[in-house]
Amino acid sequence: MSAGTASHPYSRYLAAKRTVDDRALNRPVLDELRRLLPPRPPRVLEIGAGLGTMVARLLDWQVIGDGEYTLLDVDPRLLEDSRAWLSAWAQARGLPAQTLPDGVRLGGLRVRLMEAELGGYLRTGGAGPVDLLIANAVLDVVDVPSVLPPLLALLAPDGAYWFTVTFDGDSVFQPDHPADDAVLGAYHRSMDDRVRYGRPAGERRAGRHLIGHLRTAGAPPRAAGSSDWVVLAGPDGSYPDDEAWFLECILRTIQDELAGPAAPAGLAGWLAARRHQLARGELVYLAHQLDVAGRSPG
Ligand SMILES: C[S@@+](CC[C@H](N)C(=O)[O-])C[C@H]1O[C@@H](n2cnc3c(N)ncnc32)[C@H](O)[C@@H]1O
Repeated sequence: MSAGTASHPYSRYLAAKRTVDDRALNRPVLDELRRLLPPRPPRVLEIGAGLGTMVARLLDWQVIGDGEYTLLDVDPRLLEDSRAWLSAWAQARGLPAQTLPDGVRLGGLRVRLMEAELGGYLRTGGAGPVDLLIANAVLDVVDVPSVLPPLLALLAPDGAYWFTVTFDGDSVFQPDHPADDAVLGAYHRSMDDRVRYGRPAGERRAGRHLIGHLRTAGAPPRAAGSSDWVVLAGPDGSYPDDEAWFLECILRTIQDELAGPAAPAGLAGWLAARRHQLARGELVYLAHQLDVAGRSPG
């Protein structure tokens, strides 16, 4: 399943996001993670794992090889697509893949698919210990102060965390548009009021606040750095890979979040202008995000 053929539209968005994240992930923070990883085939838990593109990336980048990797997500459609996406990725790479009742084996890595809502999963104690905790583009859509302590408690005493691509307060579109401040201000404010699965779900400054929350939890970051998304077309006006779809999904997210009686003035014109620029290869998008890596508090 290529980025263009993922069966669910959100799966296609996550597949398209892969190349954007590849560029964005902070390499010095990743280097620190390599130093922090215990010297054994790791037991990895990735929360809000979506399609599982991080598994492919970490195998490609030789951060992990053998071991066990659990993909936890609340959305069963993404996990269903994940098995097919990872199998197709492995096949294209010449890596033996075997479908399992609860996941897929990729070479020496056993990948397990777990459908669970994070808050409920942690309330029942979770299933530790794990050697590596990963959250990519997730800690800005959950309530970090309540989630973090039970999440970190799943780590083995020498385990590590790698929390990446956490949104931190700024979205930028180019060229400038007169409605930018009204639209993006309303969009960012909506993040502070978000409720999902009956729980508070994130905030606009999640990235910077995560550093303080980790200190309070006794697990201060050993490394931190930015992982901003930067998306633009090449000189020929075409976006790389499936990144035009990625941008359309970002515009749709803003539209869905803000549409309704309280929509900011100028939203419809702003969206029309951005879609016109996207079609012409003129739209540039940046989002400010942060990565951190550190050790278990225990
Ligand atoms: C922005 S996506 C990121 C997916 C993946 N980590 C990636 O970067 O490609 C956020 C993911 O978190 C999942 N998610 C959001 N809230 C969740 C919750 N409370 N419990 C479990 N998963 C959740 C969503 O279903 C979605 O797959």
